[in-house]
Amino acid sequence: MRVGIGILGFGTVGGALLHKLVNEGSSVSTKTGLEIDVVRVAVRDLDKTRSVSLPADVLTEDPMEVVNHPDVQLVVEIMGGEDPAGDLVAAALRAGKPVVTANKALISSRGKELIALAEKSGVPLLFEAAVAGGIPIIRPLSETLAGEQIDRVLGIVNGTTNYILTKMAEEGAEYKAALAEAQELGYAEADPTADVSGADAAAKAAILASLAFGTWVAGDRVYTEGIERIDATDLRIAGELGYVIKLLAVAENSEAGINVRVHPTFVPADHPLAVIRGATNAVFVEGPSFDQLLFAGPGAGGAPTATAVLGDVVDAARELLAGAQVAPPIRFQPGRVLDFESASTTWYLRLEVVDRPGVLAQVAGVFGDNEVSIKSVWQEGEDDGATLLLVTHAHNEGRQRATAQALRSLDVVNNVAAVIRVEGAGPTPNL
Ligand code: NAP
Ligand code: HSE
Repeated sequence: MRVGIGILGFGTVGGALLHKLVNEGSSVSTKTGLEIDVVRVAVRDLDKTRSVSLPADVLTEDPMEVVNHPDVQLVVEIMGGEDPAGDLVAAALRAGKPVVTANKALISSRGKELIALAEKSGVPLLFEAAVAGGIPIIRPLSETLAGEQIDRVLGIVNGTTNYILTKMAEEGAEYKAALAEAQELGYAEADPTADVSGADAAAKAAILASLAFGTWVAGDRVYTEGIERIDATDLRIAGELGYVIKLLAVAENSEAGINVRVHPTFVPADHPLAVIRGATNAVFVEGPSFDQLLFAGPGAGGAPTATAVLGDVVDAARELLAGAQVAPPIRFQPGRVLDFESASTTWYLRLEVVDRPGVLAQVAGVFGDNEVSIKSVWQEGEDDGATLLLVTHAHNEGRQRATAQALRSLDVVNNVAAVIRVEGAGPTPNL
């Protein structure tokens, strides 16, 4: 059975997908019975050298030509960005063509509208590759667990930042050098700011929360902090305390509402997420019926992402050939998305302070004034190099932030050098 597809984009993911379809196409057809015929591929620059050779007339610089081509029955959007990708996806859906996309930026901003459009047209809009690269997580959430109550989703969903943090912690690599390697390996976004600022993980966290809880969570409702300010000192201290620093995505659903956040986190070394290294991703899904499920695997890179895209292409092609009217992945219900201030977390703070009598009392006073309880405090260095390290008990974000703000205005505090959240109850250092 033949299916004509059009592909928007021939970069890291597009190159890997075309390699599978063109160079390994026979294995796809042997396993699935589908002859996937690449009709048109859109690129920005026709003169670039490509990793897979295609007939000259297949490449075009006009993405609308791909969407509108009469032999293109199914569109794969792997060009990235919201514009023009969003309008191209919408045009394909309006034309009754199934769409497969790996674009989390697009789905987290316009997903609700595009899913509704796909439903109206009765065609699938599939985005397995948009979250955690090669790990099947969208399908388990929208199919296997569709009837289940889900309370929490917790994970590492950005390969680039996990690669950087692993290299810095384990090999003492410089931040910039580790980022350059991640780019070289095809893990990073076209603009890697999306990775290191946490925006890419936030988009993925919003998609996971929306599917897990059945309430649409837009990407801009996710509290987001990146890894730009994590330095070697905090990685060392984390290690000495029996912790590692990870960029975590956390989505919680309670009676009060939904809270979704992405931030660097101290994770205990014996936590299963602590051993997730390099570009590997891992996602825990928690609910009363099944306790805890763990999904783990390659979270970025051309080949694993293309695997997820190809799986969606096969799925969408089967639906297309069956002529089925396709239902949306989840029917979203209204729900309350909470402000981040209400989240409760434990914090680690590193303060560069003046080393003289009474300083600790002043610092402790600020915590007391804001009703934040200190779990542990210890000092490194002395005189000009004095550093106070503190771990708090869990308190809501509003209070913790007011505390950090007040510490910045104390004369005896030269610098609030680091404020990092802690997963669990927090370390008690052996002094
Ligand atoms: P990429 O390497 O930057 O490739 C983008 C491709 O799209 C290039 O071929 C580019 O053409 C083409 N393109 C961009 N804008 C275009 C336009 N206006 N008209 C025509 N062609 C255009 O990106 P990628 O890493 O493959 O990522 C693609 C998508 O997959 C993104 O949404 C990304 O978030 C997602 N994703 C990536 C990964 C990963 O590990 N890389 C993993 C999961 C999901 P030229 O080649 O001519 O420049
Ligand atoms: N830039 C992304 C990452 C690609 O590093 O995780 C996978 O979505």
